[in-house]
Amino acid sequence: MRHLINPLDFSTEELDKLFDLASDIEKHPEAYEHKCTGKKIATCFYEPSTRTRLSFETAMLNLGGSVIGFSDASASSAAKGESVADTIRVISCFADICAMRHPKEGAATVASTHSTIPVINAGDGGHQHPTQTLTDLLTIRALKGRLGNFTIGLCGDLKFGRTVHSLINALSRYEGIRFVFISPEELRIPDYIVDMLKEKNIPFEEVIRLEEAIGDLDLLYMTRVQRERFFNEEDYVRLKDFYILDKAKMELAREDMLVLHPLPRVNEISVEVDDDPRAVYFKQVQYGVYVRMALILTLLGLA
Ligand code: NCD
Repeated sequence: MRHLINPLDFSTEELDKLFDLASDIEKHPEAYEHKCTGKKIATCFYEPSTRTRLSFETAMLNLGGSVIGFSDASASSAAKGESVADTIRVISCFADICAMRHPKEGAATVASTHSTIPVINAGDGGHQHPTQTLTDLLTIRALKGRLGNFTIGLCGDLKFGRTVHSLINALSRYEGIRFVFISPEELRIPDYIVDMLKEKNIPFEEVIRLEEAIGDLDLLYMTRVQRERFFNEEDYVRLKDFYILDKAKMELAREDMLVLHPLPRVNEISVEVDDDPRAVYFKQVQYGVYVRMALILTLLGLA
């Protein structure tokens, strides 16, 4: 049985297949309407979410299946002290597949080792968020026509942002990628990622000012400062508005540069940028549903 815990759990060939399936779903949604009749997904969310949980639920409903779950750990037996290992054993009796989000790094891995159904990591602490990465990759592939040979800038909270960590991991397997990490000193990319890039000879640079880097980029991945992972509010307040992408900065960018963001956005992208055709963060949300439909079918062996 397969799980998705880390974006590297699928080979690039398997990802190609998954993205082909997602593209077919986009073109012919009616062909998939009944593929999961009688199947259930459990969405177990111990941390807040709008997009990820609802897109998993939408994905399953679009496939003709149904949904159970909780969106607030205080409403589950976790509040009584139940372990993730016990919870997943129980969920395995109710559902066919489970998407889990948890504040602790490694929680989804623990769940997968005690589960008799496929487990999808929907975010574990500041660690990984593989299905956001699948969403990001499908968006890039669909809108740029390729997954490789580009310069991508990742901007904002590169320290705590799990979507950033997962995306770098996944992109490090494609040819011709150059990374530009744009962050304040306090929110730099973790050393283990820097070491991985050096080991693989993947070019990257670290800069503080967005204006300095934006003109070189094919893709700009903006992120919010992860308030919930800060140890003190003072640091958060000092750093939260460090970057604000506005129309003036977009004028420094290439005409075909795309702006992505996993969302939720706080202040880091001014709403005046939303009408710019290069801003694709709401399109990304739609691709997230197609790719989660493809993932559910693949993990259930129905693809
Ligand atoms: C992200 C997350 O949860 O890590 N949100 C999402 O799932 N799209 C990004 C974030 O919360 O900043």
